[in-house]
Amino acid sequence: MEKRQELYAGKAKSVFATDDPDLLILNFRDDTSAFDGERMESLERKGMVNNRFNAFIMEKLQLAGIPTHFERRLSDTESLVKKLEMIPVECVVRNVAAGGLVKRLGVEEGRELTPPTFELFLKNDALHDPMINESLADTFGWATPAQLAEMKSLTFKVNAVLKQLFAEGGLLLVDYKLEFGLFNGEIVLGDEFSPDGCRLWDADTREKFDKDRFRQGLGGVIEAYEEVGRRIGIGAD
Ligand code: ADP
Ligand code: CDP
Repeated sequence: MEKRQELYAGKAKSVFATDDPDLLILNFRDDTSAFDGERMESLERKGMVNNRFNAFIMEKLQLAGIPTHFERRLSDTESLVKKLEMIPVECVVRNVAAGGLVKRLGVEEGRELTPPTFELFLKNDALHDPMINESLADTFGWATPAQLAEMKSLTFKVNAVLKQLFAEGGLLLVDYKLEFGLFNGEIVLGDEFSPDGCRLWDADTREKFDKDRFRQGLGGVIEAYEEVGRRIGIGAD
């Protein structure tokens, strides 16, 4: 397998073609963005930490029967994945109120959400990822009702697996965002799962161990990501 040209450089990862048209290489960079790319900083080790984190989680999800794009980790910062036709819709599940939900609805941060909520956002930085719904996704052709139903079902399946995994490490999975794509017509989990795209709190103290440390200028961002890794059993290699 040979690495070819760069196809896309996103805010945190770069995507490379390979000599296999069905496979891509994701390069996890140290770049860290918040507020739709308004704030950018390079955090040492982040690419490596998130690449390992994502590989560990994707393997757990795959074992639980969730189809993912993940093939294997290639280096400290690179992973081989299936090339998906990405669906521009972000799926968010929340177990506890935080972030955008608190701002939007004025509910108390930390309130347990039963049942957990499911939201859809359009992946579009220029529009600040606006909230959408099934009807809009269908009308504008972003995803069909059948695809959305499958994405929702898989997003909740991920919740069952990961809530338990993090709970075993004394962590609360507050919320997270997933992206899906199509591979030979099948809905497959793509992109990444790392503390960049979820909220994780200590179950007792509610200390934050995710990207909110960066958003809120709390410091110790990568140290917190590494602590999560230790708690859920991610080894050095
Ligand atoms: P962003 O585009 O939001 O700035 P990243 O920096 O993480 O995000 O860039 C990675 C890009 O690669 C994202 O646009 C994501 O949708 C896309 N992507 C992730 N996994 C795959 C895949 N398996 N096939 C094709 N594209 C993918
Ligand atoms: O994080 P923010 O307050 O902007 O939005 P949110 O709707 O509260 O985000 C819910 C969850 O999805 C958080 O864990 C975010 O980190 C994640 N998310 C993401 O990773 N990327 C986005 N574009 C939007 C949300």
